Amino acid sequence: MITPVIMAGGSGSRLWPLSRTLYPKQFLALTGEQTMLQQTVSRLTGLDVTAPLVICNEEHRFIVAEQLRIIEETGSIILEPFGRNTAPAIALAAMVSEKSNPLLLVLAADHVIEDQKAFIDAVKQATPLAEQGKLVTFGIVPTQAHTGYGYIKRGDAISDNESYSVAQFVEKPDLETAQQYLQSGEFYWNSGMFLIKASRYLQELEKFSPDIFLACQKALKNPTEDNDFIRVDTAEFEVCPDDSVDYAVMEKTTDAVVVPLDAGWNDIGAWSALWEVNDKCKDGNAVSGDTILHDTKNTFIHGGERLIATVGLDNIVIVDTKDALLVATKDKVQEVKKIVEQLKVQG
Ligand code: GDD
Ligand code: MG
Repeated sequence: MITPVIMAGGSGSRLWPLSRTLYPKQFLALTGEQTMLQQTVSRLTGLDVTAPLVICNEEHRFIVAEQLRIIEETGSIILEPFGRNTAPAIALAAMVSEKSNPLLLVLAADHVIEDQKAFIDAVKQATPLAEQGKLVTFGIVPTQAHTGYGYIKRGDAISDNESYSVAQFVEKPDLETAQQYLQSGEFYWNSGMFLIKASRYLQELEKFSPDIFLACQKALKNPTEDNDFIRVDTAEFEVCPDDSVDYAVMEKTTDAVVVPLDAGWNDIGAWSALWEVNDKCKDGNAVSGDTILHDTKNTFIHGGERLIATVGLDNIVIVDTKDALLVATKDKVQEVKKIVEQLKVQG
């Protein structure tokens, strides 16, 4: 049995000004009619899975419930009073489902996957490995020395499965290291999706990050359930260390395997990624809204509020909303989160 676990508690600050605290990117329709959360659920059609477990901030509970209802999906929603990153989020999901001990298909809610069949096939390929107690990652062949991803070094081939043991897992290396990994040809990017038996995840978490394990256990001692919402104890969860599954478990375990995934995967982390996945004109511009472009190349424009006219631009991102306008160089858009930090300080 496979239970999808959808992590939807990120803030998406690099996609400001569209992504806001009250309405982060995973709840926006950025690449099509469905929101990123809905696409994540819809992508599972064709796999034999239970209803999903979504884990999000309690502020977003009605958005999540409504978005699932619209696509006629049921499922439980675990509510975090505040984010403590992905290691605790997955722990809560594993503990909630521990009785039936399913394989957890851990998914981020901010990915685009163009080839759904290739994705489904990779999950099927991963299933027997996860059943054996392996912590399965899905590896993407890297195309650049991106420092926002985890890197997985391929180890020995696993016979009959076209997958490999993980020789090394390095979360978000610096640029120089990422360049070496890229050149070596031995590394995959970590896609941020995992297939792991619930009990196996908890075993490894208890071994490598006992504080997270204990805090989550206490936070779920007396869960209150109303409708499909599962709430954790705020005071117990507050003391839980903040850490990602990548640092807390994947870098440390010796029992991980990697299933290669070639499915047009993209993490919509920043505006440049949306430019990458969108259709572009012959000059390399991806635009929406009312625009007039003159001598403009490789530019991303998200408009809608008014006419946007550009002259002489190359490699620029413009995002126009009712109350804020972002103009940035495409290769610096990772730093948009600095603007959000500044806005928070200003209040
Ligand atoms: N419930 C919950 N609570 N979800 C969270 C939290 C939290 O505290 N923090 C993050 N998430 C969700 C995000 O909404 C997203 O869907 C997913 O977990 C991953 O978090 P990100 O913050 O987007 O991680 P990342 O992109 O920096 O890095 C991860 O993904 C990369 C690929 O996209 C890592 O796994 C990297 O190794 C990986 O390469
Ligand atoms: Mg991400």
